[in-house]
Amino acid sequence: MSDIPESDIDLFDDTGIADPYPLYKQLRDIGPAVWLIKHHIWCLPRYKEVRETLFDWRRFTTSLGVAMDETVNQATSGPGRANSLTSDPPLHDEIRRITGAPLQPRALETIRERIAATARDIVDDVCKRKSVDGMQDIAQVLPLTVVSDLVGLPDQGRESMLRWAAATFNAMGPMNKLGLEALPQIRELHQFCQKDAVPGKLKPNGWAARLYEAAERGEVPVEQCPGMMREYIGPALDTTIFGTGALIRLLGENPDQWTFLKNDRTLVKHAINEALRMESPVRSFTRYAREDSSFDGVVVPAGSRIIVLYGSANRDERKWDRPDSFDIMREPSDHLAFGYGIHACGGMHLARMEMTELLNAMLDRIASFSVGSPTIVANNTLRGYETLPVQIIPD
Ligand code: HEM
Repeated sequence: MSDIPESDIDLFDDTGIADPYPLYKQLRDIGPAVWLIKHHIWCLPRYKEVRETLFDWRRFTTSLGVAMDETVNQATSGPGRANSLTSDPPLHDEIRRITGAPLQPRALETIRERIAATARDIVDDVCKRKSVDGMQDIAQVLPLTVVSDLVGLPDQGRESMLRWAAATFNAMGPMNKLGLEALPQIRELHQFCQKDAVPGKLKPNGWAARLYEAAERGEVPVEQCPGMMREYIGPALDTTIFGTGALIRLLGENPDQWTFLKNDRTLVKHAINEALRMESPVRSFTRYAREDSSFDGVVVPAGSRIIVLYGSANRDERKWDRPDSFDIMREPSDHLAFGYGIHACGGMHLARMEMTELLNAMLDRIASFSVGSPTIVANNTLRGYETLPVQIIPD
């Protein structure tokens, strides 16, 4: 028998995707770092090691990619292909200064009212219909209308954003059926970023167009723009849609928590954090270990790829009391659903703003609501619902 903690659990087969939480618990119980036999890769299932690894970008670099598959890593890192997630400082900071500019809290204030108005329209509509799909009719609407408009891709790109984003996250996992099926779509996305998401075709004043304006001002080499463009296409929609879906489901299943919110709006931010902790939309990315590293005595050799399991860390019983309970009173602001350290989510203020405005609009108009069983999206590294039945009782 091997003396390293190991497991033949597959987090990426149908069972692992449908309900990863019991598997995460098994992995956490096996060790602080666990060798996944089926995928020939290490994983970190516990909170402490995930947080420390995310923080230490020098030892655990992203500049060689954050996927499990090395071909995907080569295609998404290195000169001209890197984005902020797949680069170390100083390149990381240069890219993030540019891609992150419209995502800063001050810049976002200019769109808050537009987001709030759209949120009110969404809630007006579902209050009239009473029986709706929480994903299509509620969670998807803000990202698909407001955010995709702000990015400002040509129409063909705007219409493909969700499909390309799903493929991007599938390709971050193993080359199973989902991973392999994603590859032609990733090539299509790369072609689009090179040939179509370019000045003259991009919507004026959109976030995408501003990347090329920054290149023209000499702030970043123009060859870097296609890689940076993917930063707005990959993570901008699905992540927020899935976080919002989780929030609706968890509040629908826990009417006592809805009542707390109705009585005290200062709890809104905790409810959003708690939903993201319970159902982290990004399940995992990887890091590359530059040197031998000991995780509580388990040595992971230099040159290893390590899966960082956000979704498991956020349910670690070593960190959270009753980790599987949705409890907005716990104020879980130190969850890892947005990552941690220099690569912490560049879009978190936008995601929080969308979720906050939607939840406030729901609290204004809806007395109570219930939810049915969701169907789970089949994706290697995202966690979210395809459909979520919702029954609404307006105020
Ligand atoms: C609830 C919604 C979201 C969740 C849960 C989420 C989650 C994450 C996570 C876990 C990371 C860190 C990856 C790592 O360190 O390995 C990340 C990074 C990132 N996210 Fe998000 N994200 C969300 C929304 C968004 C949105 C709306 C955008 C853009 C409009 C965005 C853009 C980015 C970018 C650019 C990075 C890389 C930052 C860097 O490396 O400096 N995200 N996100």
